[in-house]
Amino acid sequence: MLKVGIDDISLYTPAFYLDLKTLAKERGVDPIKYSKGIGQELMAFPSPDEDIVTMAANAALPLLERCAIEEIGTMLFATETSVDQSKAAGIFVHDLLGLKNNCRVVEMKQACYSATAALQSACALVARNPEKAVMVIASDIAKYDLESPGESTQGAGAVAMIVRANPRILEISATSGCFCQNVEDFWRPNYRQTPVVDGRYSTQVYIKAAQESWLDLIQNCDLQFDDINYFCYHLPFTKMGLKAHRKVARVAKSAKSVEQLEAQLAPADRYNRQVGNCYTASIYISLCSLLDNIKEDMANEKIALFSFGSGCVGEFFWGTVVPGYKQLLRTKRNIELLQNRKELSFEEYLRFYKTNSPDDGLAHSFDKETTGHFYLSALENHHRIYSS
Ligand code: HMG
Repeated sequence: MLKVGIDDISLYTPAFYLDLKTLAKERGVDPIKYSKGIGQELMAFPSPDEDIVTMAANAALPLLERCAIEEIGTMLFATETSVDQSKAAGIFVHDLLGLKNNCRVVEMKQACYSATAALQSACALVARNPEKAVMVIASDIAKYDLESPGESTQGAGAVAMIVRANPRILEISATSGCFCQNVEDFWRPNYRQTPVVDGRYSTQVYIKAAQESWLDLIQNCDLQFDDINYFCYHLPFTKMGLKAHRKVARVAKSAKSVEQLEAQLAPADRYNRQVGNCYTASIYISLCSLLDNIKEDMANEKIALFSFGSGCVGEFFWGTVVPGYKQLLRTKRNIELLQNRKELSFEEYLRFYKTNSPDDGLAHSFDKETTGHFYLSALENHHRIYSS
């Protein structure tokens, strides 16, 4: 059977962050609630000249060092914070990267889940035509109302991947387990900039979806929970993954102790603690974190991944790490990207937060504040103008 999966992966997060200790002080909250209670430390926050397109293009650019643009037959762009109701955000990225005109581009949406739908669709497209590669991009800005419970779980980032035959990083299995149910836990009507959230309920929905997806997965293959050493979860905040992992272990009748379960998730949490929720990109940032932070060679190890999007859809799937994968990782670049960010004061955070992209259709220009290669330079006559 043809092997298909992730051949290359690259992450990007904005050049600025807010320390949650600063937010805790301003909101009169015990900082330990954020560091221990939800498991978050820093929150990536985009400057006004950054959006899902610039983050996506900045994540995807390094992939072209190893993949010829002629090979990319499709780009699937997953987001729930799109910049247009009609045009796919990926078309801007296609232009910025100089991809070929015969590359199809489409945007996909189902809350935080759609990047996994994109990855699975990419695998199917590659199985149909192994000569071509598919670029999958997940890019999102998680923005909640000021002073709402969700404020501490904001974040921003993008992950871009090349999916191909005989992949060099993670071979994706054809079997997975899914769970879908119409629930009102988190949604964002077209007229709102921020989501409507029933936060506590959303955590219960997440856990149910994780358990049900796991049970569906093991109906479809002979995988055992205790055979898997590495797990990645969608991480709206890192404690969420841990809570769900314990509950999945219970339905899987695992013999692992709470400490062992926690240790299984720690390497995959590290980057997410520093960037916050990136919606569609979160689970793939967790995958980067896992691959970068496990020092031993993970060749031939299985990684199980739980992808979740409110509303809701969940999917548990798995992949096998390909020998030699370490040479393909961008560990040093990823660590530098996180370390070289600038800390925002609370006032700077509020300025970024309140500079919503104007919706009057008039001409606006943006100062270059991001250190990213691509940035949004202006809005003009309803057009978005990107520069590098
Ligand atoms: P909250 O009401 O501010 O917090 O909202 P809390 O009172 O529930 O406390 C959180 C935890 O901190 C609790 O731990 C407290 O005990 C603990 P738990 O009992 O849950 O284990 N705590 C402390 N610990 C130590 N020292 C202290 C202290 N104080 C409290 N002093 C909530 C939390 C997650 C609801 C909120 O942040 C929220 O609404 N977030 C947005 C929604 C969300 O992230 N939901 C997650 C599941 S849904 C999902 O993942 C999908 C999503 O990504 C969207 C999509 O799919 O598009 C969100």
